[in-house]
Amino acid sequence: MKVAIIGTGYVGLTTGVVLGFLGHEVTCLDVDQSKIDLLNGGKSPIYEPHLDELMAIARSKLTFTVDTEKALAQAEVIFIAVGTPSLPDGNPNLTYLSSAAQAIGAHIQAPHVVIVNKSTVPIGSGNWVESLVRDSYRAENKTQTSQFMVASNPEFLREGSALSDMLYADRVVVGADEPKAVQVLRQLYLPLIEQSFKEPSFIPRPSGFKSVHFLSSDLQSAELIKYAANAFLALKVSFINEIAELAEKVGADAHAVAYGIGLDSRIGSRFLQAGIGWGGSCFGKDTAALISTGQEYGLSMPITQAARAVNSRQRARMIEILMHELKILKGRKIGLLGLAFKPFTDDLRDAPALDIAQRLIDRGAKVVGYDPIAMDRAKLEWKNTDIQYAPDALSVFDEADAVLLVTEWPEFKTLSLEACAEKMKNRLVVDGRGIYDQNKMTAAGIQLITFGKSS
Ligand code: UGA
Repeated sequence: MKVAIIGTGYVGLTTGVVLGFLGHEVTCLDVDQSKIDLLNGGKSPIYEPHLDELMAIARSKLTFTVDTEKALAQAEVIFIAVGTPSLPDGNPNLTYLSSAAQAIGAHIQAPHVVIVNKSTVPIGSGNWVESLVRDSYRAENKTQTSQFMVASNPEFLREGSALSDMLYADRVVVGADEPKAVQVLRQLYLPLIEQSFKEPSFIPRPSGFKSVHFLSSDLQSAELIKYAANAFLALKVSFINEIAELAEKVGADAHAVAYGIGLDSRIGSRFLQAGIGWGGSCFGKDTAALISTGQEYGLSMPITQAARAVNSRQRARMIEILMHELKILKGRKIGLLGLAFKPFTDDLRDAPALDIAQRLIDRGAKVVGYDPIAMDRAKLEWKNTDIQYAPDALSVFDEADAVLLVTEWPEFKTLSLEACAEKMKNRLVVDGRGIYDQNKMTAAGIQLITFGKSS
């Protein structure tokens, strides 16, 4: 099928590359010429494992352009994958979504067009997009030969494992009021649903994985599935963090508790990793939007509110631990291992590292950070924060009064603890992601504090 994708961020680009890989003719559109130039040169503007490689395989099926008309005129399926960042009141900013809808109305020419909301949009946006497309179609479309339908197709991929999450998804959700739109999207995703594509050697199919569940619903339900999924995952993390704080008090080990409850298949073992909590562009934004939608209807959404409150407390706890151990933060040198909101990405949106660094700097500490992938981006995006950057992970320990593990990159786990200890002024490590072994740290002479374990 002829597909256009508006927006080449994490979601748009991954979707475009995967659909190209599955054999569709995909045109990716973005307003940012520098991104399009990079993509035309075969390079991804974002760090996502294996994206460049899959893009190279799908190259003949992919076009990258800033030309709206060229991208949209012949498209049979158009994905809107633009950003919907949070506004101060918790509602998403829909400016980019609205421009995309207007551009679609003005330029479509194919006889039947399915317009797909891939961005996370407030409930009811499907109808809103339809009305925007219709208005602009009537006012600006010169050919007026198209019939169009709007569908919602939320994405569930995680940064850092986006390609595998999409190729071997738990489910594909399509919400639409027109059955024809569901049929078209089922057809589009058929190679994925039936797993009929040849697996790329670098993203192997999980053993026994045979098909992807395809779920269709009405528009609003699909939109709400997205919010409910992210809110539920977020509250799972906050729940274990609440239990972790209690575990510290009563002398239990939250990691053992998570393992113990996770074995119950009704609960499941994933998203029960205690630590400094969630960051990133999704959980914070989507829980805020869900609460804001609830408010419009007079609902207070107390569980989602509590998940957010626990999460912001996790970052503050990092500072409390340091104040308890070091007493004075002024003039201290604190190392940060990891800057990205999670490993295998260079995304710094709502990264706990920035929040923690800023609170330390405000209290007079000197902060030195290192991240194997996100550091260049941090230097650009965090210009206003006085973080210093170390050339490698080991240098973070130089003369440090404490080192905080913020992002669980694998290379931090294999550091020589003896070498780290030798460099430190005060041998204290606070493990915000639960990756270090207590016995090994003690053997190296380092005091280890882990979230969820009493020290
Ligand atoms: C999340 C969802 O997992 C995806 O399904 C969804 O598609 C995506 O949001 C989105 O809406 O776009 P993502 O934010 O990329 O994906 O990353 P996650 O792996 O979910 O991690 C989110 C945060 O939670 C990270 O900061 C991670 O460190 C933290 N986390 C995760 C924990 O603190 N504990 C856990 O047990 C799991």
